[in-house]
Amino acid sequence: MVFLIPPFLIFTIMGNSKQPIGVFDSGYGGLTILNELLNELPEYDFIYLGDNARSPYGTRSFDVVYDYTLEAVKQLFSMDCELVILACNTASAKALRTIQQSDLPKVSSSKRVLGVIRPSVEAVSRITKSRHIGVLGTVGTVRSNSYPMEINKLFPDVTVVQEACPMWVPLVENNEFGTTGGKFFIKKNIENLLEKDPLIDAIILGCTHYPIIKDEIKAFLPDHVKVISQGEIVARSLKDYLLRHPEMDCECSKNANREYYTTEFVDSFEEKASRFLNVKLKAEHISF
Ligand code: DGL
Repeated sequence: MVFLIPPFLIFTIMGNSKQPIGVFDSGYGGLTILNELLNELPEYDFIYLGDNARSPYGTRSFDVVYDYTLEAVKQLFSMDCELVILACNTASAKALRTIQQSDLPKVSSSKRVLGVIRPSVEAVSRITKSRHIGVLGTVGTVRSNSYPMEINKLFPDVTVVQEACPMWVPLVENNEFGTTGGKFFIKKNIENLLEKDPLIDAIILGCTHYPIIKDEIKAFLPDHVKVISQGEIVARSLKDYLLRHPEMDCECSKNANREYYTTEFVDSFEEKASRFLNVKLKAEHISF
């Protein structure tokens, strides 16, 4: 007699062999986070999703960023991700809380979505001596006031000033940051920030695109001002999260697989992403 094992039972017995960690950004910026995640957690599987077709998010309304982010998160869930990192400050500022509190309970009780703001705030508070911090971010992140609120909740003694840099993401996405025009905008925003508070001794790059222009940013800053980019901070924080949540850790597959998806042109994504990550990669187009 032949017994046929139903597929769901095979799945239950064997476990799902492919449950990557999803990493989402509006475009290329999240690659600065992914790069450090790959260094810190090399054995884990990752899917990167860049919504390049609708980037930048930074100048879009709260509702639009929330809708786009939720669509991307659902897409990554449908690709078997149990855990999704919003490697985007704008999405973390405008969508994370609502997704965690309202959407996740409806979509799945076991899946998790994490952002980049909280770990960055904890890290900068350990670095500043003057207790005066600057935040550089997109218009959306700055307007949301997420950084000052989070910093003042945890560290009420810290003074925070912010500067929105609406030109910086287009400069990165279009590789124009090294031009005279590009440097003009970088210098202008840095000078504006320092004018708002000359006592600043630490700056959060509150947009995942900005580490790509870290050298250009530092060129216009006094030496004593520390510049904090989020990649390493988020990677360490995720490692710690997985240690504290073994039930999630065992849901994440560990075959060192990487997959890349973009909502825009595959060839330009492959070319730019390879440059940012220093490895040749293959991407696929996705629409959702
Ligand atoms: N990389 C995103 C962030 O961290 C924003 C880029 C955008 O404006 O789309 O905020």
